[in-house]
Amino acid sequence: MEKFLVERSLNLTGRVRTSGAKNASLPILAAALLGTEDIILEDVPRLRDVTVMCEVLKALGAKVRTYEDGTILINSSGLNNYETKSELMNKMRASFLVMGPLLGRLGKSKNSLPGGCKIGPRPIDLHLKGFKALGARIEEHKSYDAEQNESYVMASADELIGDRIYLDFPSVGATENIMMAAVLAKGETVIENAAKEPEIVDLSNFLRKLGGNIKGAGTSRITINGVERLKGAKHQIIPDRIEAGTYMVAAAISGGDLVVENVIPNHLSPVIAKLEETGCELTINDEEIRVKSNKDLKAIDIKTLPYPGFPTDMQAQFMALTTALKGQSVVIETVFENRFMHVNEFRKMGADIKIDGRSAIINGNVPLIGTKVNATDLRSGAALILAGFSAEGKTEIGNIYHIERGYEDVEEKFRSIGGNIKRIEVDED
Ligand code: UD1
Repeated sequence: MEKFLVERSLNLTGRVRTSGAKNASLPILAAALLGTEDIILEDVPRLRDVTVMCEVLKALGAKVRTYEDGTILINSSGLNNYETKSELMNKMRASFLVMGPLLGRLGKSKNSLPGGCKIGPRPIDLHLKGFKALGARIEEHKSYDAEQNESYVMASADELIGDRIYLDFPSVGATENIMMAAVLAKGETVIENAAKEPEIVDLSNFLRKLGGNIKGAGTSRITINGVERLKGAKHQIIPDRIEAGTYMVAAAISGGDLVVENVIPNHLSPVIAKLEETGCELTINDEEIRVKSNKDLKAIDIKTLPYPGFPTDMQAQFMALTTALKGQSVVIETVFENRFMHVNEFRKMGADIKIDGRSAIINGNVPLIGTKVNATDLRSGAALILAGFSAEGKTEIGNIYHIERGYEDVEEKFRSIGGNIKRIEVDED
């Protein structure tokens, strides 16, 4: 089994470049099924989740060519399959994002029920509510036989017709899936209480380049006027605000001084605000942010919220930071029901954290001690690396495949700024 061995690394210093955003790349790759001509995507991160999505597209009949520099060429003119099998679906929940484009292009889509990070039930009811509003018939089949795993959801429509859809929660995935189905529907679709994340705006920009008629992405009301067909386009993926935020926290927790390059500072407002509250010094330029840590950083309170609130995908990394802050911090998770699995791992390292429902109360400034821990999901894995840099001794992190789903060249990048991290092969566990 491969693990990361992390040793105490104080004072991370230098420059690190943010890759293209995983959470923008995945829906945009799915949306590439909608165009009938060549599509060129640039700055796509080389990640396991991206590879899985490319496999999904190929299995559906698209031609996909990936290049080392992060360029991906896609041609979906030969799209001929509407079914995504469980082998691929189980590897990544975001595979479900092909459902909207398949409904739009072929009028039907059959998908095994999705896998991915195990952070709460993560239902798909809002995606399906949207498809139904556009006139799709939904058939759900749940199999409780784990061996056979034949649970699937099928959506079909002779014709999709625009409608008004109110989302009970501004779900990122549901907003994206509905946008992608509606872009080829007849007439006007309005999504109310839509998610406002930058990745939604990037998807909208891409769909507009393909010829889609979409207005309001980035606000809570998105209006889509269906078009007959979509063509090809060239598009550069936005920088990954969560990866950037993770390196910014690495500077803070290690007492370091880092410049994080290739960022859109606006996308990082809550992360910037919270780091400033701790007492870190931030210098913000057009495309880079310098984070200089200070001695005696202060405790902070955090509440995760949909964008532009504090991102749930930064919660675990900030919790790692709060273990090093002077005083008591409170972290409230409101987006996902079960996103405190890293707490147990931090406790193994000696952290003093209590959980009360959706709140975690952290008594900081208790020295962490390296030990054997496991990544329980993507962001918790990143948080354990950060905790490992501040802990005494060696931290051995298992289940690192979670981390590889979302951080491009994570070892190399951390090593280039002085992080003591290496991949080791172990037999046990
Ligand atoms: C996306 C991101 C993920 C991030 C999350 C929230 C991708 C590939 N993943 O996930 O990294 O943590 O946004 O910012 O972009 N919900 C429902 N019904 C639905 C859909 C969602 O109740 O049909 C609930 C979920 O259970 C969860 C909340 O809504 O509690 C947020 O989920 P959502 O915004 O849909 O997250 P994802 O799109 O899955």
